[in-house]
Amino acid sequence: MSGLKAGVIGLGMGRNHLRGFLNHPDVEVVAVADRREDRRALLPVHFAEFKGKVYHEGIDMIRNEKLDIVSVAVPNNQHMELTIAALEAGANVLCEKPMAMNEAEARKMLETARRCNRKLGIDFSYRFYPQSRTMKEMIQQGALGEIYYGRSVWFRRRGIPGMAVNTFNTGNDKASPMGSWFFDKKQSGGGPLIDLGVHRLDLALWLMGYPEPAWVMASTYAKFGPEMGRKNGVEYTVEDLACAMIKFKNGATLELDASWASNIKEEELQTIRLLGDKGGMYQYNLEEGYTYDLEYYSEIGDRQFDSKLHTNAPAPSAYQMFADAVRDNTPFLVKEEEGVVVMKLLDAIYRSAASGEPVRLD
Ligand SMILES: NC(=O)c1ccc[n+]([C@@H]2O[C@H](COP(=O)([O-])OP(=O)(O)OC[C@H]3O[C@@H](n4cnc5c(N)ncnc54)[C@H](O)[C@@H]3O)[C@@H](O)[C@H]2O)c1
Repeated sequence: MSGLKAGVIGLGMGRNHLRGFLNHPDVEVVAVADRREDRRALLPVHFAEFKGKVYHEGIDMIRNEKLDIVSVAVPNNQHMELTIAALEAGANVLCEKPMAMNEAEARKMLETARRCNRKLGIDFSYRFYPQSRTMKEMIQQGALGEIYYGRSVWFRRRGIPGMAVNTFNTGNDKASPMGSWFFDKKQSGGGPLIDLGVHRLDLALWLMGYPEPAWVMASTYAKFGPEMGRKNGVEYTVEDLACAMIKFKNGATLELDASWASNIKEEELQTIRLLGDKGGMYQYNLEEGYTYDLEYYSEIGDRQFDSKLHTNAPAPSAYQMFADAVRDNTPFLVKEEEGVVVMKLLDAIYRSAASGEPVRLD
């Protein structure tokens, strides 16, 4: 199949989808939808080459257009409804992370994709970074040996999306105005765990080979968000820090930390450490931003070596890979089931934190 027709719902993160599809030679973006007038108005400024129809409501776009690809980039509580509607209308869907509000919703989406024989991709963006692809290839080539421990972290000092009293700069009009859905549990499903932790969890699981989880023990805290909300006259109903230990059936352990507000040095700290019996890997962000260095630690005989990634091959974006997968009917880098596993773990983390008990996953 070539000459794919695509539509994008939501012009926050969805602008990346729009740009990605506009750059694909075999995709024509025929429509977009956003409820915000200011974002629709900026289309001719930032996307002059986009000549398609502009809708207010995503569901109207799905009903009125005949689309091969629909991107769903709206608040989390609408992912399931719009994804299922698009799949049932015959489109393949690239849905933003988290896949859904919880595992039950994610399963319904997966079942619909299978019933409709359509692809459902989840935009776990950090897998698509060229450096992540290098890490995966190194692991596949045996650089770490058996991975038995991982730690995946995303902390911010003060970086609650949409909150005015932030030292973290969310940039341009990226964040929604005050009263953001991100810290309203009914719309988001949770705080930094489901927003940032979801990326760190997927990246670690993918690198570790998606081992089957056995146990989860977790805590969540809300030490800053509620007060910051009160100062801004908005209600903050999610955690601002989550930490979890996940034990897998193969014996490996993953520690996961995610926070939007914590008393640390950095405005933004992202790290991942993986330990194997043949080598160790550590990736960390540079200058509190979104570029990374990757170090590799190994042993030859009784001598230990440290090395740092020097060159990296470019890698295609999620949008390019999803369109390629739809065009060629080949698998997408993110398997649908992996999105469901992530939601199952996030549910278990919230359950363990609420009960104060470990949660067993069978
Ligand atoms: N993959 C990533 O790195 C990444 C980064 C940021 C956000 N996200 C995800 O993307 C999604 C959107 O987040 P965001 O930061 O863009 O939020 P946002 O609030 O900035 O943008 C969401 C947009 O969706 C529009 N919208 C809401 N419901 C709609 C509907 N039914 N029809 C049409 N338009 C509708 C809103 O008007 C808004 O402009 C979330 O699920 C978030 O977790 C992913």
